[in-house]
Amino acid sequence: MTSASPWIPVALSSDIEAGTSAGTLVNGEERVVWRDEKGDVHVWEDRCPHRGMRMSFGFVRGDHIACLYHGWRYDTGGQCRYIPAHPDLEVPKTIKVPTFAATERAGIIWTAAEGADPAELSALPETAEAVRSLFLDTTADAALSAVTSALPEGFSVGATTAATVTLQGNGTTLLIAAQPRAAERTALHMTVTGEISTAARRSLALWATDLRNRLEAQTVEAA
Ligand code: FES
Repeated sequence: MTSASPWIPVALSSDIEAGTSAGTLVNGEERVVWRDEKGDVHVWEDRCPHRGMRMSFGFVRGDHIACLYHGWRYDTGGQCRYIPAHPDLEVPKTIKVPTFAATERAGIIWTAAEGADPAELSALPETAEAVRSLFLDTTADAALSAVTSALPEGFSVGATTAATVTLQGNGTTLLIAAQPRAAERTALHMTVTGEISTAARRSLALWATDLRNRLEAQTVEAA
């Protein structure tokens, strides 16, 4: 992945189980992240074309997601396929939720504009184990620079991009990917590859809590 990669992390893979959905923000815009029952992930605009209900409140059934409000049902391409109040209607092709590219890499769900190439993420490991996500009231740049200014014990900085920092240490690789949720709102999604002991996992969790506390203290000082 290059620093110009269009791919933005939106969730830990393990946080979106098959048959579930969740709302998130990307640069201030609402998105629904959902996983169909086959296991494929989808990222769409979080708004039903009917009356604007959030799709993230909807229900996933097989490879469809249905809106909570009036039950309009959408296929994995965002196309409305069924309107319960008009069961015999052939739904017009114009009734469609705007969709985005979605892929998974290194234990994280990523999104980009439709047509983006997932191969841009190929420098990352295919799979990784979730550590945690941190939700912070700061910019992505400030969050990533706080990561590198006080590293977890035994780790050093490896590859970095505009959206990610990789830390190497204790036989593991820790990936920290920054999701710009809105101005001054960032999520850091953390995953690890390699054998990690329970003690090392606990120590990383403590470090992440300390990172959040440091950033919160900076926000209070700046206010
Ligand atoms: S608002 Fe979604 S079906 Fe009516």
